[in-house]
Formats: sequence, structure tokens, C-alpha cells
Amino acid sequence: MSQDIPVGIITVSDRASAGEYEDHGGPALRQACEGYGWSVAAEAVVPDDKERIQTSIRAFSDQGCGLILTTGGTGIAVRDVTPEAIREIMRVEIPGFGETMRMRSLEITPNAILSRSLAAIVDRSLVIALPGKPSGAVECLSFVEGAIPHSVKLALRVPTSC
Ligand code: MTE
Repeated sequence: MSQDIPVGIITVSDRASAGEYEDHGGPALRQACEGYGWSVAAEAVVPDDKERIQTSIRAFSDQGCGLILTTGGTGIAVRDVTPEAIREIMRVEIPGFGETMRMRSLEITPNAILSRSLAAIVDRSLVIALPGKPSGAVECLSFVEGAIPHSVKLALRVPTSC
């Protein structure tokens, strides 16, 4: 039986947060999470601003989201700061997530090399920074989904064996 995981989803986008276009990344991730049997407990759309990203992550972690997904801001545009925002508040990074997402995504598009996607432990949550394109975010999540339940248990400091 799959483990229910309370999930927080944060869309990071200046334009979506200003209402200039509809957020498609958040709903796409919600659907994917529900498909994995997880419950989406919190959602937010924030601008590409380090403090706003950090505040949302911390609030969702305090709320009990064992898994927090961000989508957007992982690239190399001037406003892309999601990795920096997470690294400033994380306890530890888990490089295998970023490595796997890029390696598997490169089989789909050469532009995957531009994403600085990553995973880290912040407070008691596993945080995964996914690319902004909705299909890319869902694809990347699917490449690491198998490692998520165990990582979430470790983030929560639940005694568990591999
Ligand atoms: N990864 C997958 N699987 N599929 C994609 O379409 N798009 C790439 C990359 N990773 C993509 C992907 C592109 S075009 C960019 S610019 C980077 O993610 C960063 O995207 P972001 O800045 O919106 O996070």
C-alpha cells in the first residue's frame, strides 16, 4: 500500500503570482501527487523572490507537509533564485535527486541541462525544486518518486530501515 504523504506545492513565477497568466504547474503537480496516493495539503503561488520562497517553504513545513515541491526558477534567467533560496535554509542537500532528474530529462530534451533542480531537507520536510514547465515538473517528479516515501520518513526523523 502506498504511504500517504501531506504535500505542499509552491509555484515560483513572477508572472503567475502577478496574475499575468494562469498557473498550470501547480495543478499539474497536484494531479501527479494525487495519482501517487498523496494528499495535497497546501498550495501557493509566489514571485521569484528568495524571501517569499523561504517563507512559504517554512510555513508549509510548520503545517506538517512532509514533502514540499516547488516548480520554477531553477534555470539561469536573471530572476531564477529557487536553488539559492533553498540552499540558504536547508540542513542538507541530497544530490542524487538533481543528478537523476537531469540525467533522465536529458533523454527527453537537451535543455534539461539548464535546470539546477535539487532536493534538500529543510526543517522536517523533503523539499524538491522542479523545473517550471508543467510537463517537465511532472516528468522530473516521476523520475525520483520511488525514493520519496523513505526520504520523507527520514526527514520526519521516524525510525525506519532501508
Ligand atoms: N526537464 C524536463 N524533464 N522537461 C523539460 O521540458 N525544460 C528545461 C529544464 N528541465 C525541461 C526540463 C528548460 S527549457 C529549462 S530553462 C530549465 O528546466 C529550467 O526551467 P525553470 O527555470 O522554469 O525552472
